Amino acid sequence: MKTIIEPFRIKSVEPIHFNTEEYRKSALKAAHYNAFLLHSDDVMIDLLTDSGTSAMSSAQWAGIMLGDESYAGSPSFYKFEKAVQDITGMPVVIPTHQGRASEKILFSITGGKDKVFISNTLFDTTRANIEFSGAEGVDLICPEGKLPTIPAPFKGNIDTKALTAYITQHGSAHIAMVIITITNNSGGGQPVSMQNIRETHHICKQHGIPLYIDACRFAENAYFIKMREPEYADKSILEIANEIFSYADGCTMSAKKDAFANIGGFLALRHEGLAMQCRNLLVITEGFPTYGGLAGRDLEAIAIGLYEVMDEHYLQYRIRSIEYLTQKIAAAGVPVMLPAGGHAVYLDAKQFLPHIPAAQYPGQALVCSLYIKGGIRCVEIGSLMFGKYDDEHQLIPAPLELVRLAIPRRVYTQSHIDYVAEVIIEVFKERQQISGLVIKEEAPILRHFTAKLDMI
Ligand SMILES: Cc1ncc(COP(=O)(O)O)c(C=O)c1O
Repeated sequence: MKTIIEPFRIKSVEPIHFNTEEYRKSALKAAHYNAFLLHSDDVMIDLLTDSGTSAMSSAQWAGIMLGDESYAGSPSFYKFEKAVQDITGMPVVIPTHQGRASEKILFSITGGKDKVFISNTLFDTTRANIEFSGAEGVDLICPEGKLPTIPAPFKGNIDTKALTAYITQHGSAHIAMVIITITNNSGGGQPVSMQNIRETHHICKQHGIPLYIDACRFAENAYFIKMREPEYADKSILEIANEIFSYADGCTMSAKKDAFANIGGFLALRHEGLAMQCRNLLVITEGFPTYGGLAGRDLEAIAIGLYEVMDEHYLQYRIRSIEYLTQKIAAAGVPVMLPAGGHAVYLDAKQFLPHIPAAQYPGQALVCSLYIKGGIRCVEIGSLMFGKYDDEHQLIPAPLELVRLAIPRRVYTQSHIDYVAEVIIEVFKERQQISGLVIKEEAPILRHFTAKLDMI
């Protein structure tokens, strides 16, 4: 059969709160034109993030009831630990309350002044945690990854030539680690090939640099490898994941993505020495090493979710639903990142709204228009998120002005997705009427979460 169906039935539903365009205009004004500040009851289709927004399975809900809340040595931890070890092959498993807590612990120990972390693209919290430690983050995305609308199979790859050149020029002593983000969230949810991970591993090994994986979407990335790298066509997702992690010294993970959990994360490591330092920090920031900021019930849900996400029927439906939305809007002429990524559709706001300069945040203007037109909430990944100021307080724009519509896992049906496509196409038709924004108030770090803006 050609039709790919949602590989689940729905047992429990949540209502969508319908509202009008007029209502949404005033809600957005009250939220200072920042979608993060909207009340979620005022949102009809929430594509702000795929993080922590998944629908859990009946098996996960059953696992919640089995959660053992012992302070130390809970059986729920050992199930969690086994699942992580099965997938990553890493002996040390440190639970955290979410991905950024793993980052904070790891970078507090390995970061600091004069250290550099090199990546295909660091996610915003990852970069923020690196910079907070006093270190510097360097993104070396492959050339095709910088061209949003030109298709290529692995646009999330790190530029291995640029990595080698960087090491030759600066030496390796101050490079704390290389981090490969799979899939590359800030770069369009694009996958990284096994060949690229392997090559990076060899370069790192040659120069004694640790290699880490930001593993939030490891299963989606593994599925792309299976589909696009012929030698992996007959391998299972677990086998592919095992090989990915075999090249790494450790990984950070947000279980709020490819583990279908509403909260959770972990740090997995190959080496005991670093593990002891991490656990010491864990105890003062997160909790005891067998729960680390999570309830026993969360550990159960994650352990189950980690296996569920590797189901190929699920991954086929997941990747296809993103591709379906991408193709539908691309066919209507909407500038969208191609090919489709793993968890989200990325609109190219530079091409969508060429009349709005970067300093007036075209991506954020598009976010606002999609909310007003159809009650859809999404997020800007451009100069509001990544822009910096020069000494004269002039904006140094981000390289890309993207708008991300992240699709929560197992939550929306095909008709929701058709509705989203219709709204985007309608906004595209009226794009000349959209105007830019100005920032009124902002925080020094991760300003996009709380910034207050106004329409120009
Ligand atoms: C690639 C990547 N790394 C790290 C994180 C941080 O994870 P968390 O939100 O669980 O702190 C995210 C979250 O969106 C992410 O997408």
